[in-house]
Amino acid sequence: MRRCEDLGYLGKDQTMPNRNIIEGQEAEKEKDKVVVLDFGGQYSHLIVRRCRELGVYTELIPYDIPIEELKRGIEVEEGEGKIKGIILSGGPFSIHEPGSPKCSYEIVDLNIPILGICYGAQLIAYIKGGAVGEGRKGEFGRTELFFKDSELFDGLRGQSPTINVWMSHGDVIERLPSADIIGYTKNTPVAAFCINDRIYGVQFHPEVHHTEKGEKILWNFLYKICGCKRNWTVESFVRDKIDAIKSEVGSDGRVVCGLSGGIDSSTTALLLNKAIGDRLTCIFVDNGLLREGEKEAVINTFENNFKMRMVFVDAKERFLRGLQGVKDAEAKRKIIGELFINIFEEEAKKLGNVDFLAQGTIYPDRIESARARSGSVASRIKSHHNVGALPEKLGLKLIEPIKDLYKDEVREVAKELGMPSQILNQHPFPGPGLAARVIGEVTEDKLRICREASHIVEEELKLSAWYDKVWQAFAIVGDDVATGVLGDARSVGRIVTIRVVESREAMTADFVKLPYEVLEGMSKRITNEVKGVTWVTYAISSKPPATIEPC
Ligand code: XMP
Repeated sequence: MRRCEDLGYLGKDQTMPNRNIIEGQEAEKEKDKVVVLDFGGQYSHLIVRRCRELGVYTELIPYDIPIEELKRGIEVEEGEGKIKGIILSGGPFSIHEPGSPKCSYEIVDLNIPILGICYGAQLIAYIKGGAVGEGRKGEFGRTELFFKDSELFDGLRGQSPTINVWMSHGDVIERLPSADIIGYTKNTPVAAFCINDRIYGVQFHPEVHHTEKGEKILWNFLYKICGCKRNWTVESFVRDKIDAIKSEVGSDGRVVCGLSGGIDSSTTALLLNKAIGDRLTCIFVDNGLLREGEKEAVINTFENNFKMRMVFVDAKERFLRGLQGVKDAEAKRKIIGELFINIFEEEAKKLGNVDFLAQGTIYPDRIESARARSGSVASRIKSHHNVGALPEKLGLKLIEPIKDLYKDEVREVAKELGMPSQILNQHPFPGPGLAARVIGEVTEDKLRICREASHIVEEELKLSAWYDKVWQAFAIVGDDVATGVLGDARSVGRIVTIRVVESREAMTADFVKLPYEVLEGMSKRITNEVKGVTWVTYAISSKPPATIEPC
């Protein structure tokens, strides 16, 4: 059986966290929303992001959510988290495949607008008694759609009776007697349909940029068909979140926040600072695994500029000692994670009177953790360190103010809060710090080489205007040595590998085809300026099969 979108990930037993039952978290007033039922399509997140970009709060939820829960969400009053519309995402399955994901068939009887996309449209057709067959040709990529006037396609008609849409499917809807057929293509007789002006289906992907006027189609669905109100802007997010933190923490509650200097924890700290001022204490741990100048940037931004209450913990020795003799990457991650938790616990106890722990969890973190917990295909490749167990241990309540945001939304919020560009535009940095880039045992000397060489890589990228175009760029060092010539003498030194990758969400990545001159500049500086290095190489593996970080 042929499938749509072969890049999907979804396992049948996927579960999602319920945003109101995260431990210790009080229910916030919910926003009205559109929900996207996730059938595992490669573009499911993109649908959510597009709707949010259009100003409507949208959530990704599992396809097998009980129908009663949807009913409850639909029945509540406007302004109280009401579900205003449902979108069924695409997915990598064929409807006829045994075990292919299916939501409750009652979904089509709910009195609410529905839009099925690709697999979602086929599922609606299947439930409604239409014929979904194996396409003889399939359609992948740009395709011409002939369309009829309808609420969904309002405002699309220009000079031409067609638009170019993006397709990615094998199966096709052949017949759907109960529906008005509002679009077809050369190979797909039912490429768009409408049932009772309430249920719509499109075989193509309006959420991808390649679909001409795809945004307008989603806009029509959200505003004209579902009657949504604009409720998702950066300004409204910041305002509502500050109010929510104030009421959650109360007039005398105290909060600690682990601040690493990365964008997520920095944004979390700034939001809390705006809400509760110096009842927030940020804990910054110098674990000796930081980038060049990172500590100074944090002091400068948060202590000097924002005048926030900070505790600095110098734990360089402690981390180095803990990592001594450990070569295995996972073992190193575990040690680092545990040391963080211990230090945090000690500091929170020293401060006393702390009620809450703030954490910079973001939306993809929650979804990935839920997927990993459910044992779905997307199980973890590396154990990313977090302090998940800590609040319970310390009897603290957890605050996660940016838990509903995607990374680019976090950046928007950070900008709105006045985050300096040095933090705003820096590349992501892993929790285990430079230890993720030192292969084998972590020693002071290898850390120095990694830090200095990485700094040169970043500087050279900035000078050649490449820094903002790439996802991450750094140097890697291991135990391999190679012979070199220094002056007239032979010398043996370490091999440094440069890694520069482009990516959108770090799930996949490709090495950047940097000009040779840029690479040459980095190589020369590294061998000249970083003591103990004789050779420089460039990593040309993509993810997959490689990961971005070597450890
Ligand atoms: P990998 O190496 O798995 O990395 O391809 C994907 C992205 O995640 C970052 N990364 C981490 N981030 N804690 C984090 O907060 C971690 O333990 C961790 N490990 C990797 C990595 O830098 C890349 O952006």
